Formats: sequence, C-alpha cells, structure tokens
Amino acid sequence: MNNPCSKIVDEGLDFIIFGSTGDLSHRKLFPALYNLYKDVKYKDKINIIALGRKEIERDEFLSTFTPFIENKDKIEEFFGKIIYKKCDFTSTDDMNSLSQYLLSRCRSRIFYLAVPPLSYEEIISSIGKVGLQKECIEHKTFTRIILEKPFGYDLSSTKRINRLLLSLFKETQIFRIDHYLGKEPIQNILAFRFVNNVFENIWNNKFISKIEINLLEDIGIEKRGIFYEETGVLIDVFQNHILQMLSIITMNKPKIMNDEHIRREKNKILQKVRLGEFIKGQYEGYTDEENVSKTSLRETFLFTKVFLKSKRWRNVPIYIKSGKDLKNKDTNIKVYFKKIPQESFSGDFSQNILDFMIQPELGIYLNFGGKVPGEENKVTNIKMEYLYTNYFGELKSEYEKLLIDCIQGKQMNFASTDEIETAWQITDRFEKRIKNIKPLIYKKHSLGPELPI
Ligand code: BG6
Repeated sequence: MNNPCSKIVDEGLDFIIFGSTGDLSHRKLFPALYNLYKDVKYKDKINIIALGRKEIERDEFLSTFTPFIENKDKIEEFFGKIIYKKCDFTSTDDMNSLSQYLLSRCRSRIFYLAVPPLSYEEIISSIGKVGLQKECIEHKTFTRIILEKPFGYDLSSTKRINRLLLSLFKETQIFRIDHYLGKEPIQNILAFRFVNNVFENIWNNKFISKIEINLLEDIGIEKRGIFYEETGVLIDVFQNHILQMLSIITMNKPKIMNDEHIRREKNKILQKVRLGEFIKGQYEGYTDEENVSKTSLRETFLFTKVFLKSKRWRNVPIYIKSGKDLKNKDTNIKVYFKKIPQESFSGDFSQNILDFMIQPELGIYLNFGGKVPGEENKVTNIKMEYLYTNYFGELKSEYEKLLIDCIQGKQMNFASTDEIETAWQITDRFEKRIKNIKPLIYKKHSLGPELPI
C-alpha cells in the first residue's frame, strides 16, 4: 500500500477530541484551546477536530462552549480552526472515515479522550483498529493521546486500560491529565525544594514534625450525582490530586531532573504510603441531591492520617483532609517544623510553618518567631509572605499549560503508568476500609466533622 502521507504533508497538528460535546470540553478544554490559539506560536499550527456521537449543526456546536470563553476578541477566527465531525467510535464506518481524513493530512496528532473511563477501552481499540496510533517516521509526525481523570475506576480496570494502551502506544505517547499538575504553585514545589539549600537540607523527620494536605471546597457536587455516587472524595480527588501533592512534597530528589526520573521518584514514595485512621463525612442533604441514593454512604468529606515507610519520613504523620460544601475553598500543603525547646523566650510563637498556598491565594508563607517590639524576651508569630500576584502577571490556565507540555512532549506533569497503578493500589485499599462505614453528617458551609487533631 502506498504511504498515505506521501502526497500531502502539511506542517501542523490535529487535535482530535472524543467527547467534544461534554461538560469538560465546554468548560475547560475549548477555553484552553482558544487561549492556545491566541498564542502566536500555536496560532497557525493547531486544527481541532471535534468528535461527537450526535449529528449537530456547526453553529449549535460552537455555541456550546462560547459562554465559557472570557475575552472573545478572536473567537470568529478561532471558529475557523474547528471542524465538528459526527463520529461514533463503535462504528467501523465512522472510524474508517475519520482515519481516511486524518491519514490524508499526515499531520502530528493528539487524541484527547474527554470521556468517562468506561469508554476508554473501546475508543483506544477503535483508534488501533484503523491504525491512527501510528507515527509517520518519514515525515517525523508524532501521535499522542491525552486521557482525562479519573483514569480507570479501580486497580484492575486501570491495569486493563494500561495494557491496551501500551499495546498500541509507547509510554512517551501517553499523557494522563491531572489539572493539579498544571497548577503553578504545585509545579513550584520541586523548584522550591531543590534550589533552596536552606529547606532541602531540613526536609526530613529530624526537623519536620508533621505535614498537612488540604483540599477543601465550598461548592457541593453540582448536579454530578451519578458521577459522585461512584467516586466520592476518594476517587474524585484523593486518588489523583491529593496523592500527586503528597508525592511531590515528600519524594526524594531524582538523580537527574528529567521527566522519567521525577516520575520514578514520585512512584517510589507512593509505594511507601501506609494508611492510618480516617474519618468519613457526608454533608447534610447530600442524599436529597439529584441522582443520589437516599441511603447513600458516599463520602463528601474524608480525613486520614498517613505515614510513609521510609527512613526520611519515619514518625512524621501526614494529615490529609478534603471535602465538599465546606466553609471556604482552600487548598494548601503545610509543613510544620519541630519546635526548639525554649526557656529564654516567652510569648505565643508556635512553630515554623511553611504554607504552600495553592488556592484561592497562590504563594507561600513562612511562619516564624519574631520579637515583639518593646518587650525584651517575648516572641510572636510573624508571616513572611510570597504572593504570585506581587511578582508575576496573569498565569496561563492549568489546561493550557498541560496542553503545551503535551505538544512539546514533556511528561513531567502527567502521571506515568507506574504512578497511576500505585495510586490505585492505595485507593483500592482505602475504599475497602471506608466502603461500609456510615459517614458522619456535617452541616453545609461548616468546617466538616470534628477531627481528632
Ligand atoms: C476535579 C473534581 O478534578 O477537581 C471536582 O472532579 C473538584 O470535584 C475539582 O471540584 C477541584 O479543582 P480545583 O482546581 O477547583 O481545586
């Protein structure tokens, strides 16, 4: 057979979205692609092929995501970059037609699976059947695949999906997205730890007494009853965002700072996670939400104490807390340093705390003891603060940054096969323990159930 790309070679990138009519595509993906389009580097390179099972008029499709785009100055031009194609991935005819279309263009391609994990296997197989996973060596095009979270629904489904993926794609072509890894303050943690001698040298149990990881939300489940009944806090955010934060804050410094070594170290530390006591909560009224069972035991709040089976972190508890419909939105990681036994000073100074503020405020603050003016030996808590807004302009959105990483083939901010499987091992173990436990009911907009710390 003739090389299908021998006729037309067009430098550029086809961005093919499965599930383009879904909520995630409207809210996150298209606004990120629009911003990417506004970047001169990518403007003429990107073409979007939006796929959906339904026959929809082009204008109707375009109007689905337009409300989520803030500054619409280039929206008409951007529309010109989008093709909507009806494509049922279970239909051989539809997939053949997609394949003919894409192969005749011979461009690099990124598949984006903005669909629930239940559809992953069928879509990946369909891509494989029509040979779209292949890269054209002659014209140096690449093919990559981005998969949304949750990746799988437990360890065994995840392993199955991974096996299938790896039978068609190389690890370097697979990008499992977790938007937390696109957050600037999270990306900053490794830099902060590894370039600042003052901190990395004391990053261990000799100096650190405990760590807290908080992902607190003031919103509820927002009409996602069906999804939430299957996931709860555990699968929705613990399996991915929280375990990622945990690995980044505690991992060892890789020998080489590259994607492969960083991801390997993250996986190593995840393998050392030992789950301790936990508290499971549910906000009052959760069982009255649409598509939620009246007798649901699903957690909308989870607190747990974790230890790491490592010399560096021996006896350092890590407290993890996450919940919906709480008083405030607040995501942070707090590192508490041991107190120096004190006789010479009085006052209310507690201890050194490094607070990585992820949102709504972005930055870091260090709590330290400072002398109270006019008092001889009295010390109090002082905040040394770094806020992004004081140093940097507007930041790119998480999705936009991760899309750029994928285009550039950078995998550091995506979960590897090993990491995702280890994260699921922990999650499955946790799920078994909490599954049949009755949740403690907490009031909406409160601090959640009472905790033992
Ligand atoms: C998503 C979860 O992955 O993360 C949502 O599915 C959650 O339930 C969201 O609200 C939190 O993201 P962020 O960036 O607002 O903290």
